[in-house]
Amino acid sequence: MSTSLELDKKKLPQHIAIIMDGNGRWARSRGLMRLMGHKAGVKTVQLIVKAAREIGISALTLYAFSSENWKRPATEVSGLMSLLKSYLESELAFMQENNIHLRTIGRKENLPREISEVLNASIANTAANTGLVLNLALSYGSRDEIVAAAREMAKLCVAGKLRPEDITEEAFSGYLYTAGLPDPDLIIRTGGEFRLSNFLLWQASYAEIFISETHWPDFTREDFIAAIATFQKRQRRFGKTGDQVSGNN
Ligand code: IPE
Ligand code: IPE
Ligand code: MG
Repeated sequence: MSTSLELDKKKLPQHIAIIMDGNGRWARSRGLMRLMGHKAGVKTVQLIVKAAREIGISALTLYAFSSENWKRPATEVSGLMSLLKSYLESELAFMQENNIHLRTIGRKENLPREISEVLNASIANTAANTGLVLNLALSYGSRDEIVAAAREMAKLCVAGKLRPEDITEEAFSGYLYTAGLPDPDLIIRTGGEFRLSNFLLWQASYAEIFISETHWPDFTREDFIAAIATFQKRQRRFGKTGDQVSGNN
């Protein structure tokens, strides 16, 4: 807990989203199968969820499986699905004890039935929890999310239930999977790549981005705190001038 004291509690990001990348390279550099990297990555998930709760973050979104990740070899996909299932089964008690509210973004209907069943049970069981919102991005693709929202609104317009002039940025946000969640303040990507890989494209418009060279299985609580500390040193201008933001104008 001591390192979190370095953080300014008044300037914490409300919502942190993480692109957990580098499991495969982590494994490969050790001569291991890629799946061993994913297995090691689950331990990091446990560590970072715990840290986020203790630090007092309101929402943590973890990019666990993208809509494009279905294109990976079938053995890797099925390995990831079994890891997801065992993670959900083993974490329910922890979530309950720690007042964590689980939600997901993405095409849940594309997940194998045994996973969606465990997932739905965990979501229902933690629905009344008021602490950290743990939001898992599963079979998630941002373009798919945006198109689905546009399609839904178009249907409502055709049915006369929505007027085109009522489609505002705020209303649009309400049709996304992330409805009700604040936009991420900080997006962390591990594994050193400088890209968003179809993650929260709409929601990321003013997110601060932090790239870590560390592969996800090696990412520590200290690395997480360091990313938040860097975020706290940034000046978020939202289009204004630095002077306007710092009150010097
Ligand atoms: C991230 O690690 C986990 C998932 C995408 C499921 P990768 O598996 O992409 O690891 P690298 O990028 O190949 O190292
Ligand atoms: C992004 O990582 C998706 C997840 C972390 C789940 P990828 O490894 O799939 O991204 P690309 O393919 O390198 O862009
Ligand atoms: Mg990758």
